[in-house]
Amino acid sequence: MTLLITGATGFIGRHVCAQLTHDHDILAVLRQPDSQLPALRQQVNALGGQGERLQAVQGDLDLPSLGLPENLAAPQAIIHLGARFAWQLDRATAQRTNVAGSLAVAELARRHGSRLVFISGFMLENREHLQRLSITSDDPDQVDWQHVYRRAGGYEASKLEAAIRVRALAATHDLNLVEVQPATVAGHSRTGALDSAQPLFALLDNLARGRMAMVPGSPEHWLPLVAVDHLAALIAVAATADSVPQRLLALDPTTPNLQGLLAIAADMLDRRAPQRHLPIPVLAALLRLPGMPRLMNTWPEALHFIQPTRFDTTDTDHFLNQQGLARPAMEAVIARSARWYQQHHGNPAAPQPA
Ligand SMILES: NC(=O)c1ccc[n+]([C@@H]2O[C@H](COP(=O)([O-])OP(=O)(O)OC[C@H]3O[C@@H](n4cnc5c(N)ncnc54)[C@H](OP(=O)(O)O)[C@@H]3O)[C@@H](O)[C@H]2O)c1
Repeated sequence: MTLLITGATGFIGRHVCAQLTHDHDILAVLRQPDSQLPALRQQVNALGGQGERLQAVQGDLDLPSLGLPENLAAPQAIIHLGARFAWQLDRATAQRTNVAGSLAVAELARRHGSRLVFISGFMLENREHLQRLSITSDDPDQVDWQHVYRRAGGYEASKLEAAIRVRALAATHDLNLVEVQPATVAGHSRTGALDSAQPLFALLDNLARGRMAMVPGSPEHWLPLVAVDHLAALIAVAATADSVPQRLLALDPTTPNLQGLLAIAADMLDRRAPQRHLPIPVLAALLRLPGMPRLMNTWPEALHFIQPTRFDTTDTDHFLNQQGLARPAMEAVIARSARWYQQHHGNPAAPQPA
């Protein structure tokens, strides 16, 4: 089976390539294949995959038709992970890469009759949150996107818009769409390895540097997590299994509440765990003060992902069982991610929270 992948060089993409190259050839869409492919092959080998089964084609989500050659051979499946993943993204940039880029990938899948494994995010299953953003219709043309971008910020809004527009395209055209909806990604379940650009890394860094004197939210608030290797295994089977549900929620429902997460991490980081809670609206108001986001290393948009909603993972659980995939114990994944942070990013001298 030949599989095409975008975002192969990213944190999740590298793990997906490592899992899939055991049995499949992969063609990665890279912006600079000459420099990126050799490094990616090495990383894939280091993760236990077979880097030599990885080829590359030059392409860019920002270009019309992705800038891909016309004569590209039809892949059986396309895994779309590529995205601009950052806070404070302006709307035009986020829409160009994350929305128009996703629609171009979907069009490529439709043209080749390939299954599209589209990576969205778990907030698409948070109905209360969608309602707060006034997303009440499946029809993308009925949504006030200007309002959504203003409330949610460029990254999250563009992920929501991309998913809703790709679903609409699949509903009206003959497109085999599987949507994988990851929670916030934690480190590798055995090594804890976590990229420094990942949101969980920023949380660990804030804790290690004494910037988390209080727990954002209430005891009901949590930041749902998924281990990167488990997510990669789920994406791999979503691309290759014969029969796959249309949506897979990649979220560990046993993730502790935020206070519990911080307590496990604080123990590994040799810091005192914060005990008292700071309501999200108060924290959001603080972060509106000039200079505060940088000082606290927290952007208001990131707070949306810390929320009290619980999610139904029954369909995904059933598929995981069918595929013989078990979720790694999340408390151990959190501890290993924190230990990995500690080992690789030192022991920053920091005042203990009061
Ligand atoms: N990590 C999470 O917590 C999380 C949670 C939910 C959903 N997701 C989604 O999962 C996907 C992957 O996330 P990640 O954490 O692996 O992100 P990442 O580490 O930031 O990787 C992003 C990838 O996208 C590629 N990319 C960015 N702009 C591009 C462009 N214009 N053309 C082609 N490729 C481009 C990057 O390539 P270069 O190497 O060339 O920059 C990189 O391979 C994203 O769609 C993200 O929204 C992530």
